[in-house]
Amino acid sequence: MLYTPIQFRNVEIRNRWVMSPMCMYSCENGIANDFHFVHYGSRSQGGTGLIMVEATGVEPRGRITNHCMGIWNDEQALALQKIVEFIHKNSESKVGIQLAHAGRKGSTWNNIQIPIEEGWETIAPSSIPYHPTERIPHALTVGEIRNLVQYFKDAARRAVNAGFDVIEIHGAHGYLVHQFLSPLSNIRTDEYGGSFENRARFLLEIVDAVNEELNENTALFVRISGTEYAENGWNVEDSVKLAKILKDHHVDLVDVSSGGNIHGAKIPVYEGYQVPFSSEVRNQAQVKTGTVGLITKVEQAEEILQKGDADLIFIAREILRNPYIAVQGSFEMKEECFFPHQYLRAKISS
Ligand SMILES: Cc1cc2nc3c(=O)[nH]c(=O)nc-3n(C[C@H](O)[C@H](O)[C@H](O)COP(=O)(O)O)c2cc1C
Repeated sequence: MLYTPIQFRNVEIRNRWVMSPMCMYSCENGIANDFHFVHYGSRSQGGTGLIMVEATGVEPRGRITNHCMGIWNDEQALALQKIVEFIHKNSESKVGIQLAHAGRKGSTWNNIQIPIEEGWETIAPSSIPYHPTERIPHALTVGEIRNLVQYFKDAARRAVNAGFDVIEIHGAHGYLVHQFLSPLSNIRTDEYGGSFENRARFLLEIVDAVNEELNENTALFVRISGTEYAENGWNVEDSVKLAKILKDHHVDLVDVSSGGNIHGAKIPVYEGYQVPFSSEVRNQAQVKTGTVGLITKVEQAEEILQKGDADLIFIAREILRNPYIAVQGSFEMKEECFFPHQYLRAKISS
């Protein structure tokens, strides 16, 4: 199944390998540069079905660090367009971008909060910091929340114009959308807090606003944390419930990760440790899912798909080690995969 195409709207992804979004902390003013061109370009030469560009801030405060990528202006979008055009011209890969807002987890370097003069005042649904030693984030007003929805919409429009095939909204890992979803970080008493429906409102407003910018040529994914490993926190049942609603709001795939919102939460980590969350969401909510987390081998990925636990395999650290995992796996499995025509003499190993 790894080398079977899959379609979302008019977007056909040639195989099930996805380069998971990974911040590279290597931009100035949020602008992609030569490093990113080579970094993403090389994964396309490796046959990756879908390349997901890293968490990209929809406004300056949406970045995790001063060196994170951004798409809040046209100069940033133009730099990304160059990467998209290279990939489309020189491979069969599709390209996505993860639209993100760090919320209370912004203004950091190496996971440590930086002084406000070097960074910025962080924002959140409620004035609860991620870690007790951090500055108290500004609790957003309803007007400010509406502005944020607009930032996501504007970012989506720029991404579509830059040629991206997939937009992913980052709703996981304790960043702003996740902060709204979780009853542990969102204790608002207005229409954006309290009940499940109220906590999901911010995400659903973003989804609807972004969808207004998309047509059939751009698919929409949402990354969530399947659980936050905390008592009374966001859990798998919530994820299933949310996934059903996302499907009704024309989200094409739920990319199921976990954790990130609760400092010090104990995460049992083992090979494919997040696959059960994807499986639950896929089978209970009847939506397409992606799975991620310690998937490093071709047979392991194939087995996940065969068992019906996910539709796409997102790989992060392994594809940093091996940009050619997709094409290499196709040799092992004797399946067809894109291979650069310039490299054809290497297709047969003798
Ligand atoms: C360097 C690095 C940067 C990351 N940045 C992001 C990101 O921008 N967005 C995101 O959703 N996850 C991010 N992650 C998490 C990965 O996408 C992935 O979910 C996680 O690493 C588990 O997959 P793996 O075991 O294949 O590495 C990052 C991970 C790494 C190692």
